Amino acid sequence: MVRLDKAVEINDLRLIAKRRLPVALFNQLDHGSEDDVSYRHNREVFERIKLIHRILQDVSQRDPSITLFGKKHDLPLIITPTGITSWISYRGEVSLARAAAKANIPFTLTSTTATPMETVLEEGGGTQWYQAIMWRDLESSLRGVERARDAGFEALFLTVDSTIPYNRPWDKRQDIKFPLERVKLGHLFEGVRHPHWALGTPARYLLKERQLPGMTNTDVPEGMTAAERRAWFVKEDSLDWTFFQRVRDLWPRTLIIKGILHPDDAVQAISAGADAIVVSNHGGATNDSAPSPLEMLPSIVAAVAGRVPVLVDSGFRRGSDVLKAIALGADAVMIGRATLYGLAAAGEAGASHALSILRDEIRRTMGALGLSDLASIGRDHLLLPGDLDHLSRVAVPWKGTIAPELDAELR
Ligand SMILES: Cc1cc2nc3c(=O)[nH]c(=O)nc-3n(C[C@H](O)[C@H](O)[C@H](O)COP(=O)(O)O)c2cc1C
Repeated sequence: MVRLDKAVEINDLRLIAKRRLPVALFNQLDHGSEDDVSYRHNREVFERIKLIHRILQDVSQRDPSITLFGKKHDLPLIITPTGITSWISYRGEVSLARAAAKANIPFTLTSTTATPMETVLEEGGGTQWYQAIMWRDLESSLRGVERARDAGFEALFLTVDSTIPYNRPWDKRQDIKFPLERVKLGHLFEGVRHPHWALGTPARYLLKERQLPGMTNTDVPEGMTAAERRAWFVKEDSLDWTFFQRVRDLWPRTLIIKGILHPDDAVQAISAGADAIVVSNHGGATNDSAPSPLEMLPSIVAAVAGRVPVLVDSGFRRGSDVLKAIALGADAVMIGRATLYGLAAAGEAGASHALSILRDEIRRTMGALGLSDLASIGRDHLLLPGDLDHLSRVAVPWKGTIAPELDAELR
């Protein structure tokens, strides 16, 4: 039994997840693509941005709530769509939806999960959004969108930054791929090494549902061989703005486009009818040379000019990270791995614990900044790397100049 009260920061949940999960699963949480440059860079940018605290403000009442698409949520957070939740924990997507509902924040379900979307809606409760992956069999993928519409999801997410496969050398090398097509000896060995996970997740699926988690929300033609299935699960890479229009025509409610890093794309998305955008580099998991979403946020916020909400994700692990993004103009922050670590550590309770850690840190940072609500945060609270450029122009004798004798010697 995990003592969640001992996990006082998101990284503690990450360490528990590392112990519990098979290496192949944990690697998906702990890596980005190629050399992990953009994965690491996301965190480095947070560290370079400073928040300037204010003193002697009455911060006894601090309200971190926001209003999004006319609904009030208790925190400026949304759970972002992530696959493999069913492999991390038994019916992990339902657990995440419930944790989000209890925290009164939206949850986004991805189409690659095992629990039928209607069940997640009903058992998870709260505000739920749906993210559709567009496979090469586009008509079947669009049938998934219609199904989500009829089921009653409040918003549709179209993720547009991963229409080509990620390049993840560590993933290519390992022997386990999810969803698992065939159980091999090595997989059983991993199960023995991680008994809590093996009994709590795959064994429980086999016992209760007589099968390992598959993809019930994807309309895969029946009767295919393993090789045919592999060939079917290829993402469509011909998507363009005409296709986006097709989805817009199909989806009557809120439509959100995820994966924007350029201001021109943000403007085009709004012209094409997007109701919100997500500035994201997919948590560092696609283009390894991508800038951090935070670096692009100010110019995108300026281009959007308040016409639609701007959401952001990738690398958020601290409450202070969330306030930095809001100070740079984001309306809300989406979190992926932080709640997945919690899910891996202790199912729904672990995901709720991750949210409560973030809630405490958000409220604590609001107090330090002298804020009673999030509407009052802004540029004044930030010290950005460029703000210090003038210091490098000040002559610093021990750094900027060199003694003439030494200069001669070095030539
Ligand atoms: C294991 C895993 C699975 C993911 N699956 C999806 C997905 O199915 N659809 C999607 O749009 N994004 C997916 N993402 C990307 C997330 O939505 C999000 O952009 C990213 O995780 C945010 O960064 P963070 O994990 O550092 O918070 C996935 C991310 C991870 C870590």
